[in-house]
Amino acid sequence: MNSAKKIRLGVNVDHVATLRNARGGRVPDPLRAAQMALAAGADGITAHLREDRRHIHDEDMRSLKEAIDAPLNFEMAATEQMLDIALRIQPHACCLVPEKRTERTTEGGLDVVGGRDRLAPFIDELSRAGIRVSLFIEPSLEALAAARDVKAPVVELHTGAWCHAIETGETAKAEAEFARLRAAAAEAERFGLECHAGHGLDFDSARRIAVLPQIVELNIGHFIVAEAVFIGLEASVKQMIAAIAEGRGGTSPLSGEGRGL
Ligand code: PXP
Repeated sequence: MNSAKKIRLGVNVDHVATLRNARGGRVPDPLRAAQMALAAGADGITAHLREDRRHIHDEDMRSLKEAIDAPLNFEMAATEQMLDIALRIQPHACCLVPEKRTERTTEGGLDVVGGRDRLAPFIDELSRAGIRVSLFIEPSLEALAAARDVKAPVVELHTGAWCHAIETGETAKAEAEFARLRAAAAEAERFGLECHAGHGLDFDSARRIAVLPQIVELNIGHFIVAEAVFIGLEASVKQMIAAIAEGRGGTSPLSGEGRGL
């Protein structure tokens, strides 16, 4: 039995906006999705305002902040424009992510080691505005040490490589990636960093990663929205919450538990 604290679930509503933007109209509305996710038990809402505004728009961030009565996690690149917007909107949290125009989704973690000098003032300014800053990083010890050095209070471990290895049936790689995540979560705790995780998680991988006791928040979007197409958003969020609780409770009957398989 795992005695660690409950894991918070932040539901990422970006892909509700992706669907809306496919027709350029107003439906489906990411705010309605956020309200429904919260009513289903999610602990917070996450949205990524990308430089190219391909899904979430500025107005979405404003209306999310105004209308939801729960923590809003604003994912953003570390640019002056995004800093200005974040300082105006005053979300509960900002997660700094790397951004490339040509990528389909956030492909890797932030280069905190190479970007220390550039990131430190962003973290400082957001923190002074009362916004909790997290850095989206690869589960590497170097990135964690750099996150500690730039005084980020929180790190979010990128689970994408692990999830991809599971999806493609690369068992050895999945085991190795999970070992990295486990070591990084333990190291985050030693460094006094709050530990979150996300990217590419589905019901099964969310259940598996919930076993790591240092992780206190998961941010999940694409799979929840994709599953909602078939079972509805409320059911999708509820099933995700149940999967996470099952992993954290250590009650999963499936094999491979603890090895990330
Ligand atoms: N966390 C961060 C920092 C992300 O950039 C994303 C993707 O926007 C997610 C979590 C959610 O990933 P997914 O949509 O694959 O669940």
